[in-house]
Amino acid sequence: MSEAILLVGGKGTRLHPLCTYTPKPLLLVAGVPLLTHQLARAAAAGVTRVVFATSYLAELFEREYGDGSGLGLELVYVTETEPLGTGGAIRNAARHLTCAPGEPVLVFNGDILGGLDIAALRDGHRASGADVTLHLTRVADPRAYGLVTTDAHGRVEAFLEKPERPEDIVTDQINAGCYVFTRSVIDGIPEGRVVSVERETFPGLLETGAHVRGVVDRTYWLDLGTPSAFVTGSADLVRGHVDSPALPGPPGDALVLPGARVDPLAVLSAGTTVCEGAVVDAGAVIEGSVVLPGAHIHGTALVRRSVVGRDAVVGEGTSVVDAVIGDHAHVGPHNELPAGVRLDCGVRLPERAVRVSAPTYAF
Ligand code: GTP
Repeated sequence: MSEAILLVGGKGTRLHPLCTYTPKPLLLVAGVPLLTHQLARAAAAGVTRVVFATSYLAELFEREYGDGSGLGLELVYVTETEPLGTGGAIRNAARHLTCAPGEPVLVFNGDILGGLDIAALRDGHRASGADVTLHLTRVADPRAYGLVTTDAHGRVEAFLEKPERPEDIVTDQINAGCYVFTRSVIDGIPEGRVVSVERETFPGLLETGAHVRGVVDRTYWLDLGTPSAFVTGSADLVRGHVDSPALPGPPGDALVLPGARVDPLAVLSAGTTVCEGAVVDAGAVIEGSVVLPGAHIHGTALVRRSVVGRDAVVGEGTSVVDAVIGDHAHVGPHNELPAGVRLDCGVRLPERAVRVSAPTYAF
């Protein structure tokens, strides 16, 4: 028996408007929910029981996974009436753990795509006798993350949350959002209030002299919390740059899910996914993008590094670059949306309403 807690209660505001009707961990990445990739990897690493810490759109998780038998896992759902933050959520979920105080418990953020050897992290934690082990990764630009410095033995020295001044960027090691806690440490987190594990629990443990380990891992890692990371992660899965037992087909340049209709004269590339029920007409060009279920891309449209929401429409000759088109939005023909635009769910743009050269347009 090996237990895990999955943190899936966040609102996913940075992905707006993608999480209006779907929580971030259930967004389709390479055709299946992001969380399914994580759960498949956890099951392959010997995890047998997972407690979901839910809050935002909580009921959708149980609807998706039920009791977990389809994944070979036992799943338990715990819902916070008010979001408790990462630490509060872990504490709240721990009421449903069954393991003994000395046993290791894996904790995952629900928005990470990665190739980490989860079993090795857990087994290393057990062998080291640490209180907490953190998965760390190295990134080129660490400013948007929580930095973690370690000594020569991998013992964590300090946590620095999202440093702004250049002199505070003392390492490129960041908190990768996967932890192993010795269960008794979770039981020590205050109950019934908001707690940030990154800002409160971990620094507090260091102050009390607890053994906090950091394991730097160089396998693939991406936080899919922003639109550009989201399309990159999906495309990397499709092209086989990161392994997932849940990928619904062989790796390749594009993934077309059963039930999608793609005209042979459409051009799909750079790891594009076209989901079930979506339609792509002749002459459309789609590069490195995610076309969600029921969306319709009309002929000669260009969609590049973008997400097209459920049942959304991109009209003929329209170009959409680095954009997020919300569910049920309708972009009429011959529009040139400004790069980076986010169209809210259900918005309707008529034909030729937007030219890139028209800077007065507000969305
Ligand atoms: P943004 O709003 O875009 O920052 O995304 P987010 O709400 O998901 O926040 P963030 O990426 O910082 O969260 C990291 C992980 O913790 C994600 O898997 C979230 O689902 C989860 N999480 C964040 N806050 C809470 C909370 O209050 N309760 C629970 N259960 N999970 C949370």
